[in-house]
Amino acid sequence: MANQEDIFKNIISHSKEYGFIFQSSEIYDGLSAVYDYGQMGVELKKNLREYWWKSMVQMHENIVGIDTAIFMHPTTWKASGHIDAFNDPLIDNKDSKKRYRADVLVEEYLSKIEAKIQKEVDKAKERFAESFNEATFRSTNSRVIENQTKIETINTRFKNALDKNELTEVRQIIIDCEIVCPISGSKNWTDVRQFNLMFSTSMGSVSEDASTIYLRPETAQGIFVNFLNVQKSGRMKIPFGIAQTGKAFRNEIVARQFIFRMREFEQMEMQFFVRPGTEKEWYNYWKETRMKWHNSLGLGETNYRFHNHIKLAHYANAACDIEFKFPFGFKELEGIHSRTDFDLKAHEQYSGKKLQYFDSELNQNYVPYVVETSVGLDRLFLAVISKAYTEEKLEDGTTRVTLNLPPFLAPIKVAVFPLIKKDNLPEKAHEIMNLLKYDNACIYDEKDTIGKRYRRQDAIGTPFCVTIDHQSLEDNAVTLRYRDTMQQERVNINALAQIIEDKVSFKKQLSLL
Ligand code: GAP
Repeated sequence: MANQEDIFKNIISHSKEYGFIFQSSEIYDGLSAVYDYGQMGVELKKNLREYWWKSMVQMHENIVGIDTAIFMHPTTWKASGHIDAFNDPLIDNKDSKKRYRADVLVEEYLSKIEAKIQKEVDKAKERFAESFNEATFRSTNSRVIENQTKIETINTRFKNALDKNELTEVRQIIIDCEIVCPISGSKNWTDVRQFNLMFSTSMGSVSEDASTIYLRPETAQGIFVNFLNVQKSGRMKIPFGIAQTGKAFRNEIVARQFIFRMREFEQMEMQFFVRPGTEKEWYNYWKETRMKWHNSLGLGETNYRFHNHIKLAHYANAACDIEFKFPFGFKELEGIHSRTDFDLKAHEQYSGKKLQYFDSELNQNYVPYVVETSVGLDRLFLAVISKAYTEEKLEDGTTRVTLNLPPFLAPIKVAVFPLIKKDNLPEKAHEIMNLLKYDNACIYDEKDTIGKRYRRQDAIGTPFCVTIDHQSLEDNAVTLRYRDTMQQERVNINALAQIIEDKVSFKKQLSLL
C-alpha cells in the first residue's frame, strides 16, 4: 500500500494533470508558494466558496456580506498590530544559506521526540495486546516519561523566549537541542531575527508622494473598519455578522505542503458582533456551528478535531483551531477566535472616530465584542481534494482513480457523450447539453472509447455521465452512469434534469445544516 507521502505526491500530480492546480508562472520555473487554479480547480473552489457564503449569509438573517479592497490605509495595520507584531522568528544556516522559521525547527524537533514516544507505545501495544493500557504505560515507562519531560521543558522554554521576544534564547534552544540544518547537516546558525510577514508596496506616482501600503494579511480588518457603515446602512441589530471572502497575502518563509501554506491565498471570514459579556456563549455557538459545517462535507468526522489555544493572543479571550487530518497529519484548517473589543477599540483610537453601537434594549452605547470564524479557502480545497482522491483496484486488475467529491461540489456535474461521432448522435448529445447546461456545469466529450471517457470524468469527480446511442434517437432514452457505483441505467431524457438536481442541489445540502 502506498504511504501518505506517496499519496500526497499523487494528489499533487493529479491536480496538475486534470486542470485543478498549476504552479504559478510555471514556464519561468514557478514562483514559490504561489499557485494558479485551472479549469477544474476554479469550479471546485467556486463551489466551496458558494457553499460557505450561502450557509453564512443566505442562511442567517443577521449576517450580511461585503467585499472590501485589498489595499487599505496604512494606519489600519498599525492599529491592528500587524506592523509591530505580525512577525516570524527567522534563522539562517550559514553553510547551506537556507532560511528557516525558528519555531518550525523546534516544532519539528519536538514532533520527532513525540514520534519516538509513539513508537514505544505501539511496540508495547503489540507486545501486551488485550491487556495493554496506554495511559498506565505512558505514566510509568521510563523512556516515555523522559521524552515527555524533554518535550515539556523545551516547550515552556521556547514559549517564554518568544513571549519575551528573547531572540538569543530562541537561538540557544536550537543550539542546545542540537538541531541541524536538513540541507547542510551543520549547526552553524546565524542569530534569530524577527521578520514581518506583510508584503508592502508604494502608492503614488511621484516617489516623494509615495507612501508605503500593505497587501492585506487578513480580510478581517476590512470588516472592522466598515463596521459602522454596514451597521447603519443595513440597520443591523446586535448580535449580527459581516462576512467576506477574498485574497490575503503573507510573506511566508517556510512555504511548503503545496497549497497548505501559500504567499497569496484566499480567506473566508466572518466577524460576529455581540454584546459584551455574551462573547463566550457565541464563541461556543460558532465552534459547534463551524464544526457541523465541516462535517456536512462528508469527509469523515474523525478527520476533524478542535485544538484549543492555551496561550492566547493579546486580543483574544478564547481561541481554537479546527484541525483537519491532511495527508501530512492534523493541521489547522479554520480559526475561531473571541477577539474581544480589541480591534474596534484600536481603530477608534487610531482614527479618532467612534465605532460604537447604541443598544436600545440596554439604552447604552458600547463597543461590541467580536467572535471571528476564519477559514482558508485553499486549505479547505486541499482538505476536500485529498480526501476525495481514491485509487481503487478493479476486478479486471486495472486501477481506477476517482475524485469522490460530494456531488454538489463537483466541478462538472454531468458529462454528455455521443456513443460515436456520427449518425446524428453528436447533434442529439448537444440537445441534451442545451437542456442541462442552464442549471449545471456540463461537459461534452466525443473523443476516445466510452470506457476512457468515463475514466476521465471519474478522475475529475463528475457524478453523472450520459451516453447517447442509436436507440436514443428512437426511444428518447439515454444511459445514465453513476460515478461512485459505476452502475448504469436507462433513463428517459425528460427525467434527467430532476435526477441530477436531486443529487447536486445546494438546497438539499444547506437544509442538512
Ligand atoms: N483573521 C484571522 C486570521 O487571519 P489565521 O489563523 O492567521 O487567522 C485563518 O488565518 C485561516 O487562514 C487559517 O486557519 C488558514 O486556513 C488560512 N491561512 C492562513 N495563512 C495561510 C497561508 N499562508 N496559506 C493558506 N492559508 C492560510
